[in-house]
Amino acid sequence: MLPVSVSLVVSLCFCFHYFRLNQKSVVALIPGPPSISWIFGHMKHLLLPANYGDFEYTWQKEYGPVYRLKGCFGEDRLMVSDPLPLHHVLNTNFFTHGPALAQAIPLAFDAEALVASHGSRHKRLRAATQVGFTASAVRGYQPLFEHVAGRLTEQLEKICALNPNGTPTDMLPIIAEASLNSMSQGRSLAATASPTHLLASAIISRLPHWLWRLLTNLPGIPDFDLIRKAKIFAKQVGWKAIREKLAAAQARKGVSESTSSSESEMQRDVFDLLLNIAPTSSTKPQKAVLTHEELASQTGTFFIAGEETTTSAIVFALLELAKPEHLSFQDELRAEVHHFAKIKSNSEARFNYDNMPLLNALIKESLRLNTPGAAQERAAIVDTLLPLTNPIRLSTGEVVHSIPIRKGQVVTVAAASYHRNEALWGDDAHEFRLSRWLDGTAFHGHALGPYANL
Ligand code: HEM
Repeated sequence: MLPVSVSLVVSLCFCFHYFRLNQKSVVALIPGPPSISWIFGHMKHLLLPANYGDFEYTWQKEYGPVYRLKGCFGEDRLMVSDPLPLHHVLNTNFFTHGPALAQAIPLAFDAEALVASHGSRHKRLRAATQVGFTASAVRGYQPLFEHVAGRLTEQLEKICALNPNGTPTDMLPIIAEASLNSMSQGRSLAATASPTHLLASAIISRLPHWLWRLLTNLPGIPDFDLIRKAKIFAKQVGWKAIREKLAAAQARKGVSESTSSSESEMQRDVFDLLLNIAPTSSTKPQKAVLTHEELASQTGTFFIAGEETTTSAIVFALLELAKPEHLSFQDELRAEVHHFAKIKSNSEARFNYDNMPLLNALIKESLRLNTPGAAQERAAIVDTLLPLTNPIRLSTGEVVHSIPIRKGQVVTVAAASYHRNEALWGDDAHEFRLSRWLDGTAFHGHALGPYANL
């Protein structure tokens, strides 16, 4: 139980924040669905429907790619799936993480972590870590990915052998472990969502940082203790990986090139790359851009940002494949895999998976319709003007070509809705149609996301 005085201060801060944000702004005049509940606004319908998008995609059809939504406690928010304002939100310095995430990040991530950094430090860390995620860096992880895939295949073959009657197997933990192994070793922090979490994050987001820090450091609150332990654990895992990598590099010194190269190539992962450990004993290492302390601090970010996204992307792709309407595609894909596996086994050169059209179509179409990070909150850090592709008529009748945004305004980057924006993806944007990636009918405009316009 929180002491009465603390509860009183929390309530006062909450009321102050509530009245300040609810002064009328242009956002309040933008058309959107009618309010259902003052306490939850549309948040339960947005974030906890039976199937993601049950309400969101209907709102998008009715109100277009920019509309107003009610957050908890009467807050006005903007839902955006129009690429022009999305560019402004994602690619300028005018927006930062939404308030709930901004409060949660320092609790869950190390102060030196990329996600917890801002301004020039964020820029520097981002540029430094980017080295580990370029196309050529990712190609360099191929031997590790193939090694993990081989182990996964053996595991699945064992499960099938023990289960001749074909009882369903839960793929989620199996894929989650493989995703984690593709980066290094670690443990996952599962995300939870419930109406109580929605309210808690709405209240947390309205508290001043100092009060939130004080609350999270009060002893005896089990959830906070667990998150703090996970943060410390992630950094310890990072340090362990760094020490092991450095020791292995040291041990390779003096070993002849022919014996060391295949083994070290197999073990090369994002830590090797960011530590700038040379792949073989004869390659000259370059200077690493991140200090060891900084790299250890990124471990939690990599595990959390990398594991859940990759796992859900793979699991949803498998789910799509298993649907009766995709069984013939499953056969075609299997034939493609066998065909390229033969080519791969007959060649010394590293195989390029981009050459497998059906596999790539499955990955892209599944990412498009089963978007990890479907709705991400951002908040304006200054007053700014949000440009629009098409004008909007306000409830006053006035037509606007851009929206004045006040500092603190929450904007939801509606990534899943952007992937279903019919103006970009066509009338069948809501349909799972693999052929759009094979016949050239997928959206080819100005790229917003880092991969295939997603
Ligand atoms: C299908 C796979 C993935 C998807 C869809 C995905 C998506 C995203 C999205 C939407 C963001 C922005 C989140 C925000 O700022 O609110 C993000 C950030 C980030 N992701 Fe991923 N991600 C994927 C895989 C990975 C992997 C494998 C890693 C690392 C091993 C990773 C590391 C990061 C990092 C470090 C950030 C923060 C960047 C920053 O603050 O500048 N992601 N990702």
